[in-house]
Amino acid sequence: MKFTYFLLILALGITACERRTGQDPALYPNENIRDRQTAFKNIGGDMTLLSNAINTRGAIDINKIKQLANELSQHAAKPFDFFNEEDKGGKSRPEVWLQRPVFEMERDKFIASVERFNAAAGTGEIEQIRATFSSISDSCKSCHNHFKIK
Ligand code: HEC
Repeated sequence: MKFTYFLLILALGITACERRTGQDPALYPNENIRDRQTAFKNIGGDMTLLSNAINTRGAIDINKIKQLANELSQHAAKPFDFFNEEDKGGKSRPEVWLQRPVFEMERDKFIASVERFNAAAGTGEIEQIRATFSSISDSCKSCHNHFKIK
């Protein structure tokens, strides 16, 4: 009897999870799509915190910027583990797979811009930090324009 209840609760739990995500299985065939979206959201979070730290009206906290730059550089490559052949869908345009070399060039430019920024943060020079930060945002936009569904 207890076991039946257990199964029932388990089944209800699974249904609830499916409801909550509520995503079209044709667009979300596997977990990798969600994992890459989570990875991009982490990067987005880092960028927001960095933007606040760099553009603050108060005193600049270089150590905070260094720490965030380091986190961004650890997060930067993560989404690109989840663009395998079987991971088509989500908010990615088919061009990701049709124009692979262009996509990979955008990825490499992005990662290089994050590394330049991280190095600039290491120097503690705010002008260098500002200059290299804006090229990261340019790189997000450049890839999104071509490869992300709006
Ligand atoms: C090389 C290409 C590329 C670069 C560079 C890139 N993105 Fe994206 N991004 C994508 C693609 C493709 C998607 C769609 C993922 C999916 O749903 O399949 C995406 C999705 C996202 C999402 C949405 C996640 C969601 O589920 O709503 C956020 C947020 C995001 N990117 C932020 C950023 C930020 C911030 C940067 C730069 C710091 C950046 N991305 C750089 C290609 C890129």
